[in-house]
Amino acid sequence: MSRSSDARAPGQPARKAALDILSQVLRRKRPLDHAAADAFGAVSLEPRDAAFARAIVGVSLRHFGQLQALIANFVPKAPLPHKAGPTLEILIAGAAELLFLDVAPHAAVDAANRLAQADEKAVHFRPLINAVLRRVAQEGAGIIARQDAAALNTPDWLWQRWVSNYGEQHARAILAVHLTVPPLDVMLKSPSDSVFEGSQAEHLAEGRVRLKDAGRIEALPGFAEGRWWVQDFAASLPARLLGDVAGKRVIDLCAAPGGKTLQLAASGARVTAVDVAPERLALIRENLERVNLSAELIEADARDWDGADPGPFVLLDAPCLATGTIRRHPDLPWIKSRADLTMLETLQSELIEAAAALTAPGGTLVYAVCSLEPEEGPEQVSAFLRRRTDFSRVPVSPAELFDEAFVTREGDLRTLPSFWADRGGMDGFYAARLKRAG
Ligand SMILES: C[S@@+](CC[C@H](N)C(=O)[O-])C[C@H]1O[C@@H](n2cnc3c(N)ncnc32)[C@H](O)[C@@H]1O
Repeated sequence: MSRSSDARAPGQPARKAALDILSQVLRRKRPLDHAAADAFGAVSLEPRDAAFARAIVGVSLRHFGQLQALIANFVPKAPLPHKAGPTLEILIAGAAELLFLDVAPHAAVDAANRLAQADEKAVHFRPLINAVLRRVAQEGAGIIARQDAAALNTPDWLWQRWVSNYGEQHARAILAVHLTVPPLDVMLKSPSDSVFEGSQAEHLAEGRVRLKDAGRIEALPGFAEGRWWVQDFAASLPARLLGDVAGKRVIDLCAAPGGKTLQLAASGARVTAVDVAPERLALIRENLERVNLSAELIEADARDWDGADPGPFVLLDAPCLATGTIRRHPDLPWIKSRADLTMLETLQSELIEAAAALTAPGGTLVYAVCSLEPEEGPEQVSAFLRRRTDFSRVPVSPAELFDEAFVTREGDLRTLPSFWADRGGMDGFYAARLKRAG
C-alpha cells in the first residue's frame, strides 16, 4: 500500500509518474510506450508536467548505465535489497535531474525524499537517498565526465556484439546518437506539399521532412488534414526497394502501426496489410482514415494466413529486437535479452517462408528489419537464399536510395543510427530485395 505523496509540491505529480514508468520498465521489463500510456492514463497531468515526466524518464534510461555506476559509488552495500522497493529508481531519477536536467540540488533532493516518503518500502531508505543524492550533487558531474558513457549505457552483451559486428569506432558513434533526443521525421502524403515551409523543418529528401523540438504532434500544421504521417527517415527506405507499385497489388506483412502501409497506399498501390495484433491494426485504420487513404486490413498470423493468391510484390517488415530504434526507444536495451534474439530468429525464418509462399513467380519480396543484429538481417537472408534457390537477390543501386552509404557490398540496404549524425541520426534498418524466378 502506498502512502499519498504530496501532490501539491511543484513537479511532484510529474516525478511520481516518472517513477512509476521507470519501475515498470526496469523491474517488470514492460515497454516504455505501454508503461507511459498507463501512467499518463492514471493521472491527468498538465502538458508541462507530462513533458517533465517524459524528460526524467528519457534521460534516466539513456544514461541508465552511467547513473547506476555513479550511484554504486555512494551506496555502501550495492545492489540494494529487494525490500528497498523503488529506491534505486528514485536515486536514478534524482541523479538524472541533478546531472542532466539542471534541476537545483535542493529541489531534486527534496522531491526524491517526498517520493520515498510516499512509498511503504522506500520510506525506510530515506536517509540513504538523502545522503547519496547530496553526494551526487557535489561529486557527480566530475565522475560522470570521466566515465566511458558508451560502454556503460549499453548492456554488455549488446555492446560486445556491436563492437565485433561494426568495430569500436562505429559502435561508439551509434552509442553517442542514443544519448540524444531524436528529431521528429514526417513523410508528406504529397511530396510537393509546402505545409512545413517557413517553419524550422529540414527537407531531408523527396517528401521527407525533419522537425526539431516538434512538441505535440497533433498541434503541428497539417496533422488534422492528414497531410503527413510520422515515419523515421530510415523507415521510409525499405518500401522504395519494391520500385514503382502504382496500381499494383502489394501484400504488406507485419504491417502495424502502418508507416509503410501508408507510404505504399500513397504511391498508388492496392495494399493488403496483415498483422497479428488487433490493437496495432487499429492504429493503421486510424492513420489511414486521417490521411484519407485506403488499404485492406487483415488480422492474422502471417505464418498461417492463406487468404490471398500470391502477388507480384510482398513486403515483410519482420518483428525483431529493434536495436536500430534505441534512440526512439531507450528502454529497449534494459528490457530485451539474448534469449529474445534467439526466439525472434526462429519467428523471422518462419515469416520469410510464409512471405515467399505469397510471392508470385517473377515477383519481388522485400525483407526488412529495424535491427542492427546480423542474425536478423543479412544472415536471415543468406540462410533463406540457401534454402530457396528459386529466389535471388536483386542488388539495390545507390541511385534508388538517397545516399550511397546506405547500400552494402552485397547490394542490401543498411542504415545505422550514426548515419547523418550531425543532422540527428536515423533508425538502423536492414532490407534486402529478393526476386522469385518466373
Ligand atoms: C516491425 S513491426 C512492423 C512495422 C510496420 N511495418 C510499419 O512500417 O509501421 C512488426 C509487426 O509484426 C507484427 N507481428 C508479429 N508477429 C506476427 C505474425 N506472426 N504475423 C503477423 N504479424 C506479426 C507485430 O504485431 C508488429 O506490428
